[in-house]
Amino acid sequence: MSTKEETPAAGAEKPPTSSWKDSIYNPRTGEFIGRTAKSWALILLFYLVFYGFLAGMFTLTMWVMLQTLDDNIPTYRDRVASPGLVIRPLSLDIVFNRTDPLKYNQYVQHLDNFLQQYNDTVQEKNDLCMVGEYTDQDDLEEKKVCQFKRSVLRQCSGLSDTTFGYRDGQPCVLVKMNRIIGLKPRGDPYINCTAKGRESPLQMQYFPSEGRFDKMFFPYYGKNLHRTYVQPLVAVKLMMNKEDWNNEVTVECKIEGSNLRNSDDRDKFLGRVVFRVNVME
Ligand SMILES: *[C@@H]1O[C@H](CO)[C@@H](O)[C@H](O)[C@H]1NC(C)=O
Ligand SMILES: *[C@@H]1O[C@H](CO)[C@@H](O)[C@H](O)[C@H]1NC(C)=O
Ligand SMILES: *[C@@H]1O[C@H](CO)[C@@H](O)[C@H](O)[C@H]1NC(C)=O
Repeated sequence: MSTKEETPAAGAEKPPTSSWKDSIYNPRTGEFIGRTAKSWALILLFYLVFYGFLAGMFTLTMWVMLQTLDDNIPTYRDRVASPGLVIRPLSLDIVFNRTDPLKYNQYVQHLDNFLQQYNDTVQEKNDLCMVGEYTDQDDLEEKKVCQFKRSVLRQCSGLSDTTFGYRDGQPCVLVKMNRIIGLKPRGDPYINCTAKGRESPLQMQYFPSEGRFDKMFFPYYGKNLHRTYVQPLVAVKLMMNKEDWNNEVTVECKIEGSNLRNSDDRDKFLGRVVFRVNVME
């Protein structure tokens, strides 16, 4: 009984091997992987048309969107264009030992590198602009760039005092506004820094005087049109002395005197910046 049952089973083993070959190419029906040449051609045609259509749709919508963009003005801007403040050296924790050049050289190097683009020789190629007036030039193809020479930063220029006051424990910090295309601050924006949590105020010197950002540096036309534009800077020299050294001093700088925002609860860099300085000796 068992042998008789085995026979059909053993015989049935053969057809699957031949039908496996047939499933690739069946010479009787001319089918290749279960489809005739005509069927394959139709499938290929279908996908060709289908993907061709998708690619066409994509290209069309992309093209339509690009037509609405202007190379020089960002389409989406903040509701209220108000710049953030940043400082150089690029650190919100300026800690160094004034008697150890190795400790402050990184800050000095950073300031010096940053100021290369403000070298007097470089800036003399730029235009002299009207002090206290916006440099409106919407109609000019070639936008002019107003001079900002590093020598106006005086003791904080790194020229007369090559350590920017770090060696004397009276360090300079440069404050600048982030660029915003088309921004024209109203009033006379200036930087006001205060040391927090002290009984007597910390003396500071500002360069240019009174820490002003001149209107001539506005508006900015974007990096395509205004390639060599440099932002105006305000240098703040912290006149720290023996009593201030070896203590952490927290300094807050704000932009004041204009319509620029400087007290947003959620954005603590909008129009202001807080940093710590610890001069050791
Ligand atoms: C900027 O000036 C300094 C000192 O005057 C000089 O060493 C440096 O090479 C100048 N850099 C550029 C980019 O002109
Ligand atoms: C700078 O800010 C301090 C504290 O907010 C204020 O007392 C002082 O009058 C301000 N100075 C100027 C010139 O606005
Ligand atoms: C600062 O450096 C001097 C000389 O290198 C050293 O005597 C002094 O202890 C250092 N001060 C601190 C707070 O590390």
